Amino acid sequence: MTESLKLWRNARLATCNDSMQAIGRGALLTRGARIEWVGAEADVPAAPAGDTYERHDLGGAWVTPGLIDCHTHLVFAGTRANEYAQRLRGSSYAEIARSGGGILSTMRAVRSASPQELFEASAPRLEALLAEGVTTVEIKSGYGLTLADEAKMLRTARALEQAYPVTIKTTLLAAHTVPPEFTGRADAYIDTIVEEWLPELTSEGLIDAVDVFCESIGFSVAQSERLFDAARALHLPVKMHAEQLTNLGGTQMATRHRALSCDHLEYATEEDAAALAYAGTVAVLLPVAFYCLADDHKPPIAALRAAGVRMAIASDCNPGSAPASSLLLTMSMATRLFGLTSEEALAGVTRNAARALGVHSERGILAAGHAADFVIWNVRSIEELGYWIGFNPRRTVVRAGRILP
Ligand code: NIG
Ligand code: FE
Repeated sequence: MTESLKLWRNARLATCNDSMQAIGRGALLTRGARIEWVGAEADVPAAPAGDTYERHDLGGAWVTPGLIDCHTHLVFAGTRANEYAQRLRGSSYAEIARSGGGILSTMRAVRSASPQELFEASAPRLEALLAEGVTTVEIKSGYGLTLADEAKMLRTARALEQAYPVTIKTTLLAAHTVPPEFTGRADAYIDTIVEEWLPELTSEGLIDAVDVFCESIGFSVAQSERLFDAARALHLPVKMHAEQLTNLGGTQMATRHRALSCDHLEYATEEDAAALAYAGTVAVLLPVAFYCLADDHKPPIAALRAAGVRMAIASDCNPGSAPASSLLLTMSMATRLFGLTSEEALAGVTRNAARALGVHSERGILAAGHAADFVIWNVRSIEELGYWIGFNPRRTVVRAGRILP
């Protein structure tokens, strides 16, 4: 049986390609789960002999690629609303972490949750993202911190992909904090991840990339580098939570390892921006964490822009620093708080987010050969994405060539 050919016409296309080209009266042709052709309505190729197009008139609506949330910790159990309340009363994120709360508090909740409970706790957060036109999501482990519990988190992420119309990329973030079994022995913990967990979880096909929290309250640059060496020996791409609360020099090391992305970057410097540009490493900005931690040190956007660094933005959905499941709100915060342009914000959740996950050859832009994942919006201008707060202008999501119910 041949795959169905569909013509999506009378659309305004935000292609999100390198020049952020818009096509005022555009059309898309899809064959099965792929885009076959993109262009001006006037140039639509004729259907092959003996074939017909299933035709969809989009009524002049704006269309973007399916949105990509390239940094989330959305698989977790419990909440940390109590810590948010503590921070409102003046405690800092780092203080709470040092006193045994923070990531360790979520670790306890995740360890005691069954796979089913973890799935059920996480699914509504994924559903909220999907409702806004997200079609690809990265999900990190990092709250299990034993081999079995990290595997449980990663399997939950894979189970979500089976249950929902979404592409999920999993990232091992075992190096999120030192678990109680290794208190005072961070190096031994890294050894265990490197020697035992990485090979095991890789052989189970549970890891698409490896991440580390390189920070004063996380892991040192040397420890992060040992992890990166091991990941790369297994042909796994690497990424880093870098320069969020302090600057340890993580970005310099990560870019030497050609990391896919460095994320947060509040304390990154001009030299870091140059290194990111040179390596082609994406800067992933996480404005919700900046907002919720009431941070006052912004990432060096002007330097990143001047150096030509690709900037992505992501929700960072997690129970501590970013209890958020809205990529549209994240776009609003990236523009208003960090000063991104509307166009940069859109590129940040499409083309550049795809690159942060290493899937840019098949996702993140409207182009022939790419996944037929796109969103039809109820907006008059594309700047409305990231403009509304608490209002969702999504009309229809097409995923792998099919209209989602
Ligand atoms: O991206 N900074 C480390 N990881 C998360 C927060 C995790 C947590 O607090 O639970 C982040 O902000
Ligand atoms: Fe994070």
